[in-house]
Amino acid sequence: MRTWRVVLVGFGTVGRGVAERLRASAGELESLGIAPRIVGVLDPRLGSVAAPSGLDPASLLQAAEGEGDLTQVPGALACEGGVAGVREIQADVVFELTPTNLRDGQPGLDHVRAALENGRHVSTTNKGPVALAWPELRDLAAANNVQLRCEGTVMSGTPLLNVCEAGLAGAGVRAVRGILNGTCNYILSRMEEGMAYDDALNEAQRLGYAETDPSGDVEGWDAAAKVAILGNLVLGGSLSLADVERGGIDSVDLDAVQNAVEGGKRLRLVGSVERGESAVTNARVTLEELPQDDPLAAVSGAGNLLTFETDALGAVSVAGPGAGRAETGHALVADLIAIHRAELS
Ligand SMILES: NC(=O)c1ccc[n+]([C@@H]2O[C@H](COP(=O)([O-])OP(=O)(O)OC[C@H]3O[C@@H](n4cnc5c(N)ncnc54)[C@H](OP(=O)(O)O)[C@@H]3O)[C@@H](O)[C@H]2O)c1
Repeated sequence: MRTWRVVLVGFGTVGRGVAERLRASAGELESLGIAPRIVGVLDPRLGSVAAPSGLDPASLLQAAEGEGDLTQVPGALACEGGVAGVREIQADVVFELTPTNLRDGQPGLDHVRAALENGRHVSTTNKGPVALAWPELRDLAAANNVQLRCEGTVMSGTPLLNVCEAGLAGAGVRAVRGILNGTCNYILSRMEEGMAYDDALNEAQRLGYAETDPSGDVEGWDAAAKVAILGNLVLGGSLSLADVERGGIDSVDLDAVQNAVEGGKRLRLVGSVERGESAVTNARVTLEELPQDDPLAAVSGAGNLLTFETDALGAVSVAGPGAGRAETGHALVADLIAIHRAELS
């Protein structure tokens, strides 16, 4: 049995989701020879705590409720937060789960750098560092002989990056195309039913799909970050967010959506990227009129779907959730398993 000492940086929705999933999947992890141990949780509001002998996930979840104070957890010792905490806590893996910032990647970028420089494997669901600084972080991980994984950055825990690395290796993946933002797809789906853009956006906010500030979704930033990540992780590129041509749904009008339906088509915000002759190319997020028989046209509501175009298998599609507490928490468990397996090989 291999003990994996884990530090969680950020204990919000995903931090709590992974604490729950580590608990729920303990038996399955044990059968794979994995004994996870949470040795630190760093969070600005709830407090930063460490415990070399491990923190009980159920106690962490309970202590995070209400006002929230992680120092109440049995055995927890208050410690430095942020980069200092990442450096000082003796751990094998850092889960970086702070809010995505697509301007400069912070604070996540410095957390990931500090973890890799100090010889920790990293799994992150934070798109910022991976979409903005992949070449630097990839090289830093290699130089320190550790892994940087980010299954949860695209379609939450729906297996994409890990499946591609394992099951599609050798299949010649040429391009990737997908519905990558559930909020935009939900709004477009409601507009097809006749609802005005503002009403559909309000409804998406009420249902918790869209943020109070929806610009990251409706202006296409979120989908563009995912395209950059796919271009890098699936196609081996060195893209940054600025390399992705970006469109959104914020100026789409009801007539355009309804005219598409009347013509037997569907308007969808599609993210895509291809492998060119010598580099990864055509990275873009665009509003496209799709024929009904396109698999992407069939995605309704907040669903996500991604299609890999391959030499060996033709089109291979994966559909599944694009967000959620348990769903994204699972992505970190999947990454931990992948890190463990890579160490065994
Ligand atoms: N939720 C999903 O379904 C989902 C799906 C895929 C990817 N993601 C990504 O996963 C990440 C986490 O998402 P989330 O939904 O868990 O967000 P969240 O609920 O806002 O949680 C983020 C946590 O990080 C904390 N934090 C902020 N700055 C920090 C710092 N410097 N050091 C340590 N902790 C810090 C926040 O504390 P305060 O609240 O006090 O600021 C909060 O507790 C984001 O990058 C998000 O884009 C989320």
